[in-house]
Amino acid sequence: MIKANEHYSKLKASYLFADIAKRVEKYQLANPEKQIIKLGIGDVTKALAPAVIKGFHDGVNEMADDATFRGYGPSPGYEFLRQAIAKNDFQDRGADISADEIFVSDGAKCDTGNFQELFATDIKVAIPDPVYPAYLDTNVMAGRTGEFENGRYNGIVYMDCLKENNFMPELPNEDVDLIYLCFPNNPTGSIATKQELKKWVDYAKDNKALILFDAAYEAFIRDKNLPRTIYEIEGAKEVAVEFRSFSKTAGFTGTRCGFIVVPKECMIFNAKNEKISLHDMWDRRHSTKFNGVSYPVQKAAFAVYSDEGKIQVKKQIDYYLNNADIISKAVEELGFDYVGGEHSPYIWIDGKDKNSWDFFDLLLNKASVVCTPGAGFGRCGEQYIRISAFNSLENVILAMSRIKEALA
Ligand code: MLT
Repeated sequence: MIKANEHYSKLKASYLFADIAKRVEKYQLANPEKQIIKLGIGDVTKALAPAVIKGFHDGVNEMADDATFRGYGPSPGYEFLRQAIAKNDFQDRGADISADEIFVSDGAKCDTGNFQELFATDIKVAIPDPVYPAYLDTNVMAGRTGEFENGRYNGIVYMDCLKENNFMPELPNEDVDLIYLCFPNNPTGSIATKQELKKWVDYAKDNKALILFDAAYEAFIRDKNLPRTIYEIEGAKEVAVEFRSFSKTAGFTGTRCGFIVVPKECMIFNAKNEKISLHDMWDRRHSTKFNGVSYPVQKAAFAVYSDEGKIQVKKQIDYYLNNADIISKAVEELGFDYVGGEHSPYIWIDGKDKNSWDFFDLLLNKASVVCTPGAGFGRCGEQYIRISAFNSLENVILAMSRIKEALA
């Protein structure tokens, strides 16, 4: 008899964004005349930059000619792309990461979800609350949690991110082995300084723990003093893996490309307490289960690092940051407390007396605007909603004026 993985039964019926999409579809069916504005899931709306499109086309043209055609590519990604990443994203910022520590993939969601496979089932996992749901759900699937009770999974160490602590996770009171961090944060938009990250690196070193650092939104950081990679922190190479994505940086949500940095110094421990290379483990996993990102997509990602590419993608991010500014100002005028929106495309809004799903329904029904209910990111998000800056300027302005009217 074929038996199911029982851990799946602990999960909520559907993934947060799938749940929201269903509600929005239902609303649209009932109200076909309404023009819905989506500021929910962080999905980019601007076309790929011209330099990126050229890289993409060049890749396709090469595939159209026997002389330049490519079959299976190298499992960790083409050397040209890994070199460009290592130089531009790390070495130029003083972070000593080399091309052979980079594994190109189809995006950070899959990478953050897949990476937990390398760890034992009985490790202690620390996860911020609120949090990007894929970190938690994949640990549930792997059997690292107990049942879901009172809005939380037993066995997980939750790090509450609240107004009182500036939405920054605090060091856990008990020993943990695996720590998820994300800065600029999704969903709150909060940002960590070098001192804050150092605290985590020191903790991980002292406790033989590992940090999984999601930096998918690093391109939104505009303050030069803020770290854009955890490897700007001394010692991080021994205790941290970093996830990156071209999705929000260069508009690749539909094109799919990202990468993981697994430094060679990074070690974990086997049952005999002997050190094992995490890099070698991930290499084994990646080459066994993944056959690489398509060549034209890697050429497109490579073009992000060209001179024109850099200027063009920065302009796109500036565009979304301007939207974030408009949203923040409107939210402030409405009298709500919020964080984010400054080095981040997300604005995390305190609905005060409003439950987050009620707030979501109110904005959908009265303003035809989709946001993300904070409760979908964890118990600490109960009275919050998240508004995303990923849409056209016109739609953002219209959405905010509709919200003002709806809440008047
Ligand atoms: C979000 O809205 O939180 C993200 O866009 C979802 C994702 O990156 O998978």
